[in-house]
Amino acid sequence: MTERADDRLSRVAEVVRRPDHSAASFSGDPVVGVDLGTADVVLLVLNHSGEPVLGYLEWAEVVRDGVVVDFVGARRILRRMVDQAEQSLGRKIRTCSTGYPPGTDPDLSVNVVRDADLKIDAVIDEPTAAALALGLSDGIVVDIGGGTTGISVLQGGKVQYSADEATGGRHLSLVIAGANKISYDEAERRKRAPGGAEFLNVVRPVIEKMASIVEAHIRGIDTSLPIILVGGTPQLAGFGEIFEESLGRKVSIPSESLFATPLGIALAGIKTPSNPNGAAVPALSR
Ligand SMILES: Nc1ncnc2c1ncn2[C@@H]1O[C@H](COP(=O)(O)OP(=O)(O)OP(=O)(O)O)[C@@H](O)[C@H]1O
Ligand SMILES: [Mg+2]
Repeated sequence: MTERADDRLSRVAEVVRRPDHSAASFSGDPVVGVDLGTADVVLLVLNHSGEPVLGYLEWAEVVRDGVVVDFVGARRILRRMVDQAEQSLGRKIRTCSTGYPPGTDPDLSVNVVRDADLKIDAVIDEPTAAALALGLSDGIVVDIGGGTTGISVLQGGKVQYSADEATGGRHLSLVIAGANKISYDEAERRKRAPGGAEFLNVVRPVIEKMASIVEAHIRGIDTSLPIILVGGTPQLAGFGEIFEESLGRKVSIPSESLFATPLGIALAGIKTPSNPNGAAVPALSR
């Protein structure tokens, strides 16, 4: 992970959290990426140099196990974000890129995007997107999202191995809710708040289990490859230390790990003279 990549992720977080969602002026068509996750929907707008211009995040459970379970809800959220972005930018958004977890059908996200009246720039698998955002060509990307953990080994910028496990931040929230006799929504909110680390002891066994699941997948894989944790769940303060200790290998977590995959999805849509189709990803013919 390069310092530049980490800085750019911080700037993504900054535009997403900007209360008025105002956009700095820029020329050329906006480059837009859409990530439909199990916990949230993220839409990012970049300029042609890959600089974040605008961003939206909405907590919503429209996807489960890599499958869009609430098509109408997903479409409605996406369209609302696009309408807001168009207002801020003062121009139309006609195209965007989207992603999919390896081993799932890319058309599930593509159909939501098309139904929201957008054409597709690029379709990219999520770990390749995260690696693109991190400037990583060789390494192990572990994406711990809301409902799933994706483990991908990249070599030469290509995914060589990938697996998906049904564990994620949702399980931490369930344990916090049970231990504190509070609702799931309340647990989810308090976990994400700045004081979330107070729950570390309660969720420690879940984090250790996540690490042991990951360990089983990467056992025997080149130990010189860096391990990067992305997705929202590693944002819990203290998560990395427990995970590292259980895994027995060093890991790094970008400052705003939740945005690595959405940023990479958006970056995949940038077309250059030497790369007229955007990132070299499958299913680009759409
Ligand atoms: N600051 C935080 N502290 C702890 N957990 C966090 C924080 N921010 C987000 N999360 C958790 O991260 C998860 C969402 O992460 P992410 O956006 O990567 O998931 P997703 O892409 O929607 O899901 P998936 O990849 O499983 O489809 C949620 O479980 C949320 O509670
Ligand atoms: Mg995700």
